[in-house]
Amino acid sequence: MRLLRTIPATRAALRPHRVAGERIGLVPTMGALHEGHLSLARRAVAGCDVVVASIFVNPLQFGPAEDLDAYPRDLDTDLRLLERAGVDFVFHPEPSEFTPAGGRTTVSVSGLDARLEGRSRPGHFAGVTTIVAKLLNVVQPDRAYFGEKDFQQLAVVKTMVRDLDLPVEIVACPTVRDADGVALSSRNAYLADEQRVQARVLAAALREAAASWEGDATRARLLLRRRIGGAPGVRLDYAEVVDPETLRTLEGVVTGPAQAVVAAFVGTTRLIDNCRLEPARA
Ligand code: PAJ
Repeated sequence: MRLLRTIPATRAALRPHRVAGERIGLVPTMGALHEGHLSLARRAVAGCDVVVASIFVNPLQFGPAEDLDAYPRDLDTDLRLLERAGVDFVFHPEPSEFTPAGGRTTVSVSGLDARLEGRSRPGHFAGVTTIVAKLLNVVQPDRAYFGEKDFQQLAVVKTMVRDLDLPVEIVACPTVRDADGVALSSRNAYLADEQRVQARVLAAALREAAASWEGDATRARLLLRRRIGGAPGVRLDYAEVVDPETLRTLEGVVTGPAQAVVAAFVGTTRLIDNCRLEPARA
C-alpha cells in the first residue's frame, strides 16, 4: 500500500492503472476508521482492480461551533487497517494543498442540502459536496463507495453526480452496527460508558418503527419522536419519515418506499441513524 500526500503524486500514481484500463475504486473517509469504513474498503477491493482510500478531515464541512479540532485522528492505525483490507493507495493531502485559503468555488445541491442535517448544520453539505467533487476529480474513480449510515449525504452525492454528469458510479453500502444495534461512528468515541448505553435508543426506536410499519408515516414519526424524545440523557434533534430519493417529508398513508431518519444529542455528542421502512412480507 502506498501513501500519497499530494495531488500531483496521486494523479501520477493512478495514471498507469487508468491507461491499462483497470477499474479504480475510491473510498472517501475522514479517518478514525472503524468496521463501517472498512466494510466500504472491502467492498471496493472486491469490486475494483485498484482501490484508493482518502483520509481528510474536511474543514469545509464543519460548522464554527463543531468538533473540527477535536475530531479523532489516528493515521498509523488507519493505515494498518486499510492495508489489511487490501487497499492499494491512501490519499492523505495537507489542508494547505487540498483546501487552500482563497478557494472561491463551492459545489452545492440546492434543496436537498437545507433539510434535516442541513437545517441543523448549515453549510455542511456544501462542504461535503465540494470536497467529494474535488476527490472525484483528483482520483477519477470508476466507482465511489458511500455508507447508508449517512443517508442524506448519500442522496446529496448521488444527486450531484447525476446533475453534473460525473463519470462515476456511486455504490451504497449498508450500515454496520455494534452488537447492541448502535451504528458505528467515529463520534461514538466521545461517549462515556453510560451515554454509550443511552445511545442505543436511536437504533432501538428505528427497529420498532420498522417492525410496526404499516404504511402510516405520521404514526411512525410520532413513535420515533416519543421513543427518542422521552429517553433519559438524550435530546431529540429531528425524527422524520422521508422519501428516500428526494428526502421530502412523508405524511399519512405511504404506498412507495420510505426512510426513517433521526438525529439526537447524547450529552453534547450528536448522533444520526436511519432505516428503511418496508411493508412486512406475507
Ligand atoms: P466519514 O464520517 O469518515 O465516513 C466515511 C464513509 O464511511 C461515509 O461514506 C460514511 O457513510 C461511511 N460510514 C460511516 N459509518 C458507517 C457505518 N456504521 N456503516 C457503514 N458505513 C459507514 O462521511 C464522511 O466521512 C465525509 O463526509 C466524507 C464523505 C469523507 C467527505 O468529507
